[in-house]
Formats: sequence, structure tokens, C-alpha cells
Amino acid sequence: MSQSMAAKHAIWPRKKDIIFNLSERAQRAEKNIGRENVINATIGALMDDYGRLITMETVYNEYKSIQNNDIAAYASLAGQPEYIEAVKKACFKEYMPEGHIRVVASPGGSGAIKLAVCNYTNPGDQILTSDWFWSPYVIISEEVGRKIDTYQLFDSSNNFNFESFKNKFLEISDKQERIFTIINTPAHNPTGYSVSDDEWDKILDLSKDVAKNKDKKIILFVDVAYIDFATKENSRAFFKKFSNLPENILVIVGFSMSKGFTAYGMRMGAAIGITSCENVAEEFHYSCVHSCRANWSNCNRGAMTLLSNIMKDSEKYKEYNEDKDRYKKMLSVRAKTFVEESEKIGLDILPYRDGFFVSIPCENPMEVCEELTKDNLYLVPLKMGLRFAVCAVSESKCKIAPRIIKNALEYIESKKVIGEK
Ligand SMILES: Cc1ncc(COP(=O)(O)O)c(C=O)c1O
Repeated sequence: MSQSMAAKHAIWPRKKDIIFNLSERAQRAEKNIGRENVINATIGALMDDYGRLITMETVYNEYKSIQNNDIAAYASLAGQPEYIEAVKKACFKEYMPEGHIRVVASPGGSGAIKLAVCNYTNPGDQILTSDWFWSPYVIISEEVGRKIDTYQLFDSSNNFNFESFKNKFLEISDKQERIFTIINTPAHNPTGYSVSDDEWDKILDLSKDVAKNKDKKIILFVDVAYIDFATKENSRAFFKKFSNLPENILVIVGFSMSKGFTAYGMRMGAAIGITSCENVAEEFHYSCVHSCRANWSNCNRGAMTLLSNIMKDSEKYKEYNEDKDRYKKMLSVRAKTFVEESEKIGLDILPYRDGFFVSIPCENPMEVCEELTKDNLYLVPLKMGLRFAVCAVSESKCKIAPRIIKNALEYIESKKVIGEK
């Protein structure tokens, strides 16, 4: 046996990241046969029609105006005070919930998930999320000995499957002290679904019901990484529902600058704790700050200053919003094109509301994905289907992609039927 040095708990299957792998293949194809002949729907970032990463002018002009010492200096562990205020404003806008709110800076939304998982679950605990989910939830949870359990996001009519959510929530609450649930909304990755206000009411009513047992601790982690691309007028209204909840329900919002500020590599976000109990809020602050010190110390000070400067200057904020709205519109047009074309030709997709991705349920996603590469269409295979990144594909390609996908699905299906005969 060859030498191994890593501690047992640090040895994981040696899998290459499938998304980066497919993305590399797509880029190679673009080089070989021309960008116009390839559909690269693997990338989880806004790309322009020529396949270039979109960077918001207002964001990067501001960043470049920051003094060196404001980029270079250490920041405070919980985040600079101005950043903490800026995060509340950027995240909640006019829908700030009532209660005790604490913000702790983190490296992206990923850092916020890590803070919440580590500090609000015990080793061996099950964490609940939907069966369509962003795979790093598993990596973050497993790294620290927690497991992900799932409910079915959609029922057979493609509506939010509250029954499944409720059953799993109650099942976990029967066996654990803590019920930690991750809800990625609005603009869920990978489906593009957004939980409606009525569905939020049901989730919160169920949580309140379980919270009558004071021995239970309910933590709702709301991952809002894509909230800036939610198109509904009052898409932040649900935040108000987190006001005055029972003391044994803690809401933690995972905020990220990655998408809303096209600042993916700056690694800046925050965990926002919302509670009706001051002690729970203070405890949240100190638990998270301890983890910051233990894991990454302080965060990117320049990125904090960037957000603070934009949020405190109404003119800059207005210009930033205009900048962002252009890309939001671009994204909506692409998604609408993909969804409408899918409907027209009868390609089954999951209910899309907003965001960077559309998902297509299917069997054998890996095989379909490989088949599609023969048509120079690259997307991401998931456990239960395919993820198409409308954020990275031009409108004209969004129009032709559904037909290519449908043909590949039918071809794989026909091969299976012949194989069965
Ligand atoms: C669902 C979801 N949550 C959170 C994140 C966090 O991203 P970051 O750590 O870059 O802020 C992402 C990024 O792709 C995501 O897709």
C-alpha cells in the first residue's frame, strides 16, 4: 500500500470537481471549434454574450478608489462596524425584521454556512435541505461529521412539497434536540425556485408548533446568495416574517457579495442572526467570532470597505442598482427564452422563478451530459437531472438549447428501450 499521511478523518474520495472539469472541456471545445459553436452552460457566474465574465463597473470603480491602507490593514474579527450596517441594508432593504440582529462577517456565503453548521449542530446531527441542492452543503457538513438529509422539493404536480418538508422536519425533531434546516431561496440553486410567502407561512407555522416544546432548538438557515436576482417586486418581504419568533427559533441568513456585486473571488459575505432573545443574539455573535478566529481570522477588508462605501452613499447606491438591473434584465430575458422554448417543444423542466440556473429532471444525468457534449453543449449533471446555467449563455443559445437537450434525452431513452428488448 502506498504511503498515506493525512489523518483518517481528512481522507475523502479523490474525485475531481465535476463542474470545473466540464467547464475546462467546454473551454477546450471553444478553442478548437470556435466559441460560437459551443454552448457552455456549466459556469455559475454572469457571463456576457461573448463568454466574458461580467464585472459591474460601479463596483470595480469604487474598489479601485479605496486607499491602500484600507485594503491592507487587518479588519475586526466580526467585520468592520460600517460593513455590519451595510450588510443589513443590502440584505434586508426595507424589510428588516424586528428583533435582535447580529452580523458576523464571513468569507462569502460559504463561510456563513460553515459558521452556522459548526456552531448550531452537534457531531452526528442530521441537517435538512431539499433533494435538489447545492452540493457544497454536503461537503461543509460532512467535513465536520454532520449528515445531510433531504425532503422532496416538488410534488408530482411540481408544486412546493410542504408535506414532504413537514414529514422530514418532524422526523428529525423526534430524534434530535436540534432541527437545522437549510432553505436556499429566492432563486434556488439549481432549480431557480423561490419559496412563496404562503409557503413561508407554512414553514414558520410548523416551526412554531415544534418550538412549543422548549427542549427543541430550531435553526432556519436561509441562504440568500442569489437574492439580488429575484425579480418579484417584494421578493424580500419574507424577511419581515422572522420578527418576534419564539426564543427557541433562530433564523440565520447567509449573505454573499459574490453574485449581487459580481465579487465571486473577493470572498465576502456574512452570517446574520435574527432572534427575539437578546442572549441568543449575543451568544450568536461570540460563537461565530470564535469560529472566525479559529478558521480564517478576519475577512477581506477592502471588500468590506467597498460594500460600505456603496451602501452609505445614495448616489453610488443608485448607480450600482442601475448597473445591476441591466444584468438582472439580461438574465431574465435569457431564462424566459429557455423556459418558453422548453414549454413549446415539451421539454420537462422544474418550476423556474428566478436566478442563475434551470434544472431538467432526468434519469442517467451523467450519460445525458456526455451525449450532449457530442453536440457541443456542456452542462452540469446532478444526482436527479441536469443544471443549465442561463447566467452564462446568450439569449440566442438559450433558444436552441432546449431542443438539443430534448433530442439527447430521447436518444438515451430509445437506447435504453432497445437494450431492454
Ligand atoms: C446556493 C449557494 N449558496 C451559497 C453560495 C455561496 O457562494 P460564495 O461562498 O461565493 O458567497 C453559492 C455559490 O455558488 C450558492 O450557489
